[in-house]
Parts: sequence; C-alpha cells; structure tokens
Amino acid sequence: MCGIVGYIGDRSNVLNVLMDGLRRLEYRGYDSAGVAGIVNGEIDVYKEPGKVANLDQLVHIENDVVFQKVGIAHTRWATHGPPNQMNAHPHFDQDKEFCAVHNGIIENYATLKNQLQKKGHIFHTQTDSEVIPVLVKEFYDGDLFSAVTAALRQIVGTYGIALVSKHEPNKIIVARKGSPIVIGVGTDETVIASDVAAVVKHTNNVIYLDDGDVAEVSVDNIEIRNLDAVPVSRKVDKVDWDIASAEKGGFEHFMLKEIYEQPDSIKNAIRGRLNFEQGTAILSGLNMTPGELTEIERVIITACGTSMHAGMVAEYYFEDLAHILTDVDQAAEFRYRNPIVNNKCLVIPISQSGETADTLAALREAHMKGAKVSGLVNAVGSTIAREAGRGVYLHAGPEISVASTKAFTCQVTVLLMMALKFARSHRMPMPVGKTIANEIQKIPDYVQQVIERSGEIEKIAKKWCKCHDWFFIGRSYLYPTALEGALKLKEISYLHAEGYNAAELKHGPIALLTEDVPVVALANDIDGKDKVLSNMQECKARKAPLIATATEGDQEVADLTDDIIWIPKCHPLVSPVPTAVALQLLSYYVAKELGCSIDQPRNLAKSVTVE
Ligand code: F6R
Repeated sequence: MCGIVGYIGDRSNVLNVLMDGLRRLEYRGYDSAGVAGIVNGEIDVYKEPGKVANLDQLVHIENDVVFQKVGIAHTRWATHGPPNQMNAHPHFDQDKEFCAVHNGIIENYATLKNQLQKKGHIFHTQTDSEVIPVLVKEFYDGDLFSAVTAALRQIVGTYGIALVSKHEPNKIIVARKGSPIVIGVGTDETVIASDVAAVVKHTNNVIYLDDGDVAEVSVDNIEIRNLDAVPVSRKVDKVDWDIASAEKGGFEHFMLKEIYEQPDSIKNAIRGRLNFEQGTAILSGLNMTPGELTEIERVIITACGTSMHAGMVAEYYFEDLAHILTDVDQAAEFRYRNPIVNNKCLVIPISQSGETADTLAALREAHMKGAKVSGLVNAVGSTIAREAGRGVYLHAGPEISVASTKAFTCQVTVLLMMALKFARSHRMPMPVGKTIANEIQKIPDYVQQVIERSGEIEKIAKKWCKCHDWFFIGRSYLYPTALEGALKLKEISYLHAEGYNAAELKHGPIALLTEDVPVVALANDIDGKDKVLSNMQECKARKAPLIATATEGDQEVADLTDDIIWIPKCHPLVSPVPTAVALQLLSYYVAKELGCSIDQPRNLAKSVTVE
C-alpha cells in the first residue's frame, strides 16, 4: 500500500535519493506519487497521478527540481478520494508552512476537518491525511516536535508519517501508530521509509519505530520520544540482505526471479533446522519445550490470501502428523467473530510482510484471549514479527513482486517442519520422523526440477491463455494448492479462476464447464488420486479441456488430459511445494502472453495495511 521515503543529509542529489526510494516501493501498489523539499526557505511540492515515472518526468524534465538537504516523498494507494493530482501526497496547510506524507487511515478526520474549518483553515483535498499538516499548523508555537505530538494526540486511527516545516528546515519528524516507519542510520545522513527496501541501498543499520514513537531526525541526531515527550530508546538493527536481493538481476520480472529463487530460498528456510538423527525439526524461535508442546491441545492458524492457503496446507500436516485439532481462520474473521481460544491453544499468525492489518489484529486478539502465539513471518523486524513475541522467520529474502510465490513455498516448508516437531513430541515414532526430515531436505531439488520444465509450462500457457474462465481442482494437501493456483492466475492475468476441492465441483460449479473452460487438475500421486481421476472424467464428459499436474511418468493421468505438467516423484506431504511452483509458472506465462503488468497488478497492494 502507500509508501513513504524521506532524506536528510549533505548530498546534493536529495531528489534522486527520494525518487530511487519511491521506485523501490513501487511493488507495494499505488496510484499516485509526490515529493516535497525545502528550496530557499520555502516548501516546494510536486505530485502526479499514475506511476513514479510520471513524477520523474515532472521533476526532472519539466522542472529541473533540486532539493537541498531535506525532502519527503510518497506513493499513495487511494482510500479517501480518487487517485488524482490534488489527493496525492505530500499534503500541506494553506500557507505551505508544514508538509506531511501519511500512510494509514484517520478515522475521525471528518470531525477534525470540520473543527479546523470553523477556525478558518482551508482544505484542498478529499483526503483524510490533509488534516495532519493543518493540525500541526494549528498547534505550532515555535516547537515542531510539540506541535506534531499535540496533533497526533487528536487523531483516532492509524498512521506512519513524515513531516517537514519551513520554520525548522533542518529536521524531519516521523511517527508511527499501526503503520511502519523505519529509520536508516547512515553517516551524516538519515533515510527514513515505510519499508527497508527503500533504505538498504544507503545503509543496513536501521531503527524500527514502535507504535506511539515520534522521532525528530536531523543530519547527525535521532531523538525518539513518545506522545508525552518522554524519551524512549530503540536499538539499531542490522538488515541481513543487500540491495542486489531487491533488484531484478537480469530477469524480466521480479515474479519470475522470485519463482526461480525458490530452490535457494527454501534451502535458507530449512538451513540448520532439521535434526536427521532424531527425525525432527529445530525451530528455536518457537521457544517451547517438548513439555510445553504436548500441552497444546489446539492450533489456530490465522492469515490472509496466499499465507492463508499455506496455513490450509498446514491444517492437514498438524492433524495428520501430530494429531492436534487444527483450524484455519481468515484473519479478519478471527478478529471479529469472538473465537474460543485459551492458553492451551497455539495461534500461528502467518504473514509474508508482517504488516497485514487483519493478521496483526488477529494476533492481538489471540494475545488478549490468553493464547500462546507464535508468528511465521518473512519480513524481519516487521510489526507482526515483533508483536508475536516468539516465532519463526522464513528467511525467504525480500519478496518484491505483488504476487506471493517464494513466501508460499517457504511457509509450507516451515509449517511442515513445525508439524514434524509437534508430531515428534507427541506420538510420531523416530523412523517416520526421519523419513519426513529427509523428504523436506529434498524439496529444493524437487522445485529445481519443476523450474527446468519452464519451457513446457510456457507452451501450455500460450495454448490456453485466451480462455477467460478457469478451474483449479485438487484434494487433500493439493486442495489448498488448487486455491493458491487459482489466486495466482486471477491476480496477475485478470482471468477468472476458481479453486475448488475436486469433490465439490459436481455440487454446482460443474454447470459452468464448457470446451472453453480449462480445468487444471492436481492429480499427483497422493491419497485420493483415484477420486481426482474420476472428477477429471466428469470434467472431460462436459468437454472441458484438462490440464493436469501429475507424478512423473503417470500414464493413466497423461491419457486423460490435453496437457500435463510433470512433478517429480516425491512424498505426498511435500507435493504442494513443487506443484505450487508449477502453477506459479503457468500463471506467470499466461499473464506474460496477455501482456499484463505482472509485478504490479491493477488494484493490488503488496502489503495490505488497511482493513
Ligand atoms: C497473493 C498475495 C496476497 C497476500 C495477502 C497476505 O499473491 O500476495 O494474497 O498473501 O495479502 O499478505 P501477507 O502474507 O503479507 O500477510
């Protein structure tokens, strides 16, 4: 969703730092962009609807803008008011004394706006965010920090903000409540952003603000206080990935790069976490003794989108392997439906970004109800990772493409390791554990074998990409994989795709099948494959084209289908991972053939920080 960048330091090319930062945040999804700096003692603002490239044209080609020392920038994902030039950030008061960029939602903005208008302040936009600089103007009495905290105390809702003022041009004030802000600490310069992706080019030393923190950032000093102006101390963390990880490295799209990275990202997720002697997993972040593990009577996995699909695969793992009652709750449902949770319950919020608003709220609800909580997160230092208190990192590296790929396969792999650990501390015998540990170790190799079939998958994609409606069907571990396959196709190619349990098709959706509606059947060699074959026959009888994933060499499936994607022979438990990779490639090549904006699909945001 929206992105913030700010810079203060001695560089002569402040604008380039801001524009580069905005480009690195493009992946989050946005619809307009803007920058502001202080030029000859006055605030100068430029904003444009559409892509950062439009803004680039405005500041570099049409206006030859130069900012000295300080600047803030923003990419907006519209919530209040359409995505046009006026509603784009930065926003400022009527006299352009204060200028702010804001992520989040100000719930009481209408009341505040009304009060401020009565006092004579003039507003120009339809946004909620504009109240911030106007409130600061209202409270300013010679001390910017106090004016900002006074303004923030009025606000109900969420914010990550960066604000500059012509009265105190040597500082940026940043603050956070519910929307992340990271401060990159350089030498004689500071880069602030809503996401480390915009910071790592300049420094790996970062401070993550906590909710309620307000920081006054100058060239050589960072002072953090709370809303009551009481100093707080935050440690400087090290980001463990570099700028190369956030660049395309020769691939046409981030999505393809991230698909191809999966053998390595899964290796990183597994590294040091398997104990082959004992047939179990070592997940120190889980921070639970075998005794504590046996006390868990129920697991609730809560997440959204692709992360929820990974959780749905894990439901099978926990119940099959560890015999623990497991439920998956869409995070928004969990937070509002008053779930029955107690201290014998382990709640696992799963999130790639670690910032998804609904998943974060579900985590807080779980804490409040006294559950044990253990997060499964990719983004180190993110809010969910920090608030969970304990948990396991994916180590998948930054995922830039909006469509989640490597996070899904790493999530499934780590969840299988979690289930294995639980199972071994419950009833699973060591030899069974050893077999599973050995299979997990082979996942990167299975994935590599699928990637080597990219050419074949591309041909299948080209053959069927003109079909507007698709079905993805599977059973057991491959049922959530089918849901994930359908989600991938629809989000990047804009084709209509539905995922179903193969058994469910005949209860209604089969009515939609025609010779123009391909069915992608996940017919790998796992329990229930014979039933999937029967369901495929039912589709064939309705003339639907059949594309299948199947275990290498399975002639029975090949005979039934129009096209086949071979998956290496592997243990059924791990089959969702290589199968998901095949479906990612299928979606990617369909979207490419249709000329879609693969890394930044329309209407989507990488990190969904609103409800
Ligand atoms: C789909 C996708 C989304 C996310 C969902 C949750 O490709 O990326 O469905 O999975 O928005 O995001 P995280 O995992 O960051 O909480």
